[in-house]
Amino acid sequence: ALHPVILCGGSGTRLWPMSRAALPKQFLSLVSDRTMLQETVTRLSGLPDLAPSVLICNEEHRFLVAEQLREIKQTPAAILLEPVGRNTAPAVTLAALALVARDPDALMLVLPADHVIRDVAAFHAATAVAVQAAKSDRLVTFGIRPDRPHTGYGYIKLGTALELEGCHQVDRFVEKPDSATAEAFLAAGDHLWNSGMFVFKASRYLEEIARFQPAMLQICRQAIAAAVQDLDFCRIPAETFTTCPSDSIDYAVMEKTDAAVVVPVNLGWSDVGSWQALWEVAGKDGAGNVTRGDVYLEAVQNSYVRADSKMVAVIGLDDVVVVETADAVLVSHKDCAQNVKNVVSRLNAQS
Ligand code: GDD
Ligand code: MG
Repeated sequence: ALHPVILCGGSGTRLWPMSRAALPKQFLSLVSDRTMLQETVTRLSGLPDLAPSVLICNEEHRFLVAEQLREIKQTPAAILLEPVGRNTAPAVTLAALALVARDPDALMLVLPADHVIRDVAAFHAATAVAVQAAKSDRLVTFGIRPDRPHTGYGYIKLGTALELEGCHQVDRFVEKPDSATAEAFLAAGDHLWNSGMFVFKASRYLEEIARFQPAMLQICRQAIAAAVQDLDFCRIPAETFTTCPSDSIDYAVMEKTDAAVVVPVNLGWSDVGSWQALWEVAGKDGAGNVTRGDVYLEAVQNSYVRADSKMVAVIGLDDVVVVETADAVLVSHKDCAQNVKNVVSRLNAQS
C-alpha cells in the first residue's frame, strides 16, 4: 500500500506575523477555509491503494494536528511526536521504521504539510508514475520548472529519460545553491526545483540512510524501539532523540544517492514560502489585490492586505503587503516580503 507520511514539524518564520512558533504555517488557513495540513490530507483522497496517513510533528503541536484531522473526519495511522526538531531526514527515518515494522513492502509518499497544489488530478497522475519507479527501488521526487533563481529550493539537473514512462535520471541534486549558482542553473534551462515531495519504499530509504547516515539510523532505531504509545500519539523519547544528528533529507540522502529519479510535473505547485508567493497563488480582484478580512482599499493595486482583528484601510499604494494580527502588524513592499525572516531573527535574539 501507499502510506502518506506528512511532515508537519516545521516552525514558521517567513509568514510572520501570522505564522509563529506556536502556530506555524501548516496549521493556518491561507488559501482556503481549510488549513494547509487539512488541504494536504484532503487532496490524497482518490489515490489508489492508499493507507491512512502517518503524521510527524513536534509534540507541542499534537492537539492542533489531532483536532485538524478530526475536523476533516480523518483517522490517521499514527501521529509521531518529536520532542525536538532534528529536520526532515530523522523524521522520515522514524516514519520509515514505524512503517516497515507493520508492512515490509510499504511505499511512502512523503509530503510537506504546507504546500499549495492547484491541479489535484495532475498530482494524482504524477504520483502513479512515481509509484511505478519507487517499486523498482528508486527514490523519486517531483520536479518543478523554475521561473526565477530562488535560493531556498533544491535543484535537480535533469538527466536522460528512463524506460519508465515520465521518469528521468537525476544527474545531480543540489540543495539550496547560492544565488550565482541558482542563476546559472536557470540560464542553462536544464534544472528543475525539487518539490520536497518524495516516493520510495520504506525499506529502500532505510538502506540509503544506513549507507550515508549510520549514526542517525542507529539513534532513530533506538528511539522508535523506546517510543511510548499515548492515546493516538506515539511519543519519541527525548533522551535518545535529542542526540540525533540534525539534517534534511535533501542533504542527508538525495544529494548522495545514485537511485534518485525525477518526475517532471506541472501541478500549479507553490511552497507559499512568503507573502509574495501567497499573493501569487491566490485569487485576485480586478486591480490585482488579494484581501482577507475587514479591508478597505482605495487606489491600491497588486497588493496583499489581510486584517485579522481590526479593520485595515490602505489608500494610494501599490505592491504592498499589509498583514494585521492582534499583536503585530507587517507593512512591506511586496518584493521585500521575504525579509520578514529578519524580523523573526531579531525577535528571537531579544527573547
Ligand atoms: N516532523 C518534522 N520534523 N517535520 C519537519 C521538520 C522536523 O524537524 N523540519 C521541517 N519539517 C517539515 C516542514 O513542516 C515542511 O512541511 C517540510 O518538513 C519541509 O521542511 P522545510 O523546512 O519547509 O524545507 P524547505 O522548504 O526549506 O526545503 C525543502 O522543500 C523545498 C520545496 O519547498 C527541500 O526539500 C527543498 O529541496 C525543496 O526545494
Ligand atoms: Mg518549505
